[in-house]
Amino acid sequence: MENKLDKLPSYLSQSPEVKARFQKLKQRDVILEVKGLGKIYKTAKGEVTALKDVNFKTHRREFVCVIGPSGCGKSSLIRILAGLESYSSGEVLLDGKPVTGPGRDRGMVFQGYTLFPWRTVRKNVMFGLEMNNITGEEAANEADLWLELLGLEKFANAYPHELSGGMKQRVAIARALVNQPRILLMDEPFGALDAQSRAKMQAHLLDIWRNIDITILFITHDLDEAIYLADRILVLKANPGGVQELIEVPVPRPRSPDQFSSPEFLATKARLEALIHPPEPVIEVDPLEAHVEPRMIRFVNVADRVE
Ligand SMILES: Nc1ncnc2c1ncn2[C@@H]1O[C@H](COP(=O)(O)OP(=O)(O)OP(=O)(O)O)[C@@H](O)[C@H]1O
Ligand SMILES: [Mg+2]
Repeated sequence: MENKLDKLPSYLSQSPEVKARFQKLKQRDVILEVKGLGKIYKTAKGEVTALKDVNFKTHRREFVCVIGPSGCGKSSLIRILAGLESYSSGEVLLDGKPVTGPGRDRGMVFQGYTLFPWRTVRKNVMFGLEMNNITGEEAANEADLWLELLGLEKFANAYPHELSGGMKQRVAIARALVNQPRILLMDEPFGALDAQSRAKMQAHLLDIWRNIDITILFITHDLDEAIYLADRILVLKANPGGVQELIEVPVPRPRSPDQFSSPEFLATKARLEALIHPPEPVIEVDPLEAHVEPRMIRFVNVADRVE
């Protein structure tokens, strides 16, 4: 049988439109610059190097996805960018200024539902504003604008437990955007959703991103999700965590689910798979042990065998 993957174009080849888009994108201001970033956790058992010499830049209104094997430092990276975690070496610059702690120039959305259960949807969104001393009617009006953008205006007075998982994450996005941050940092935000809600949220996020001035850094385990959303994909490696490759996604925009089977999409996916799941090494088996029959342990003594 012919292998379909053999016929795929290279993930590096770009149509003239896609090439022109990337040229334009790279001319935009740099919003985020990470230089020689290192993170060492000191634990009771010794030091864990979570990140080593990570370098990349993100341009204004760019959508960057971050993928990599479990434990390669994705969450550490995003928490450092959010100012929630210190770093051991290197520099993190947002609009050219060093990140020294949390700030309203960054919005954050996590995988778990992080809404306050005792606050209504509107009051959850107002929370971010109140932290910045915008309160009362002004805060309520501002929150309502964002709830409308996220299609949640009818649920402003509902409580989080009355919402579906997708709706909760929409409120979390509204709460992160209400302060009009420069960058939205998302750590597997749709990871807990079922496939259908997830697909809806992806399309919705692309819609929001298209319509407002926001740069997005989005962590995911899902390769399809990364290709569908991103301009570029930052592929991290483990032990220690570092940049393996920064891939320019050759799939044209606007994106749609029909593109999941396009040659550019499949070529990018094949490349990501090769980077994330390299082929298993062939293990030489000792010929004396190769033919040992597995020992069958019978826990239940069943008279009536199924085969
Ligand atoms: N607070 C901590 N203290 C000590 N070690 C930590 C801490 N947080 C993370 N680590 C270690 O740092 C490494 C990177 O962890 P991190 O959570 O950033 O990875 P990740 O890529 O987000 O993983 P996953 O895909 O499972 O979410 C791991 O070895 C982890 O055990
Ligand atoms: Mg993580």
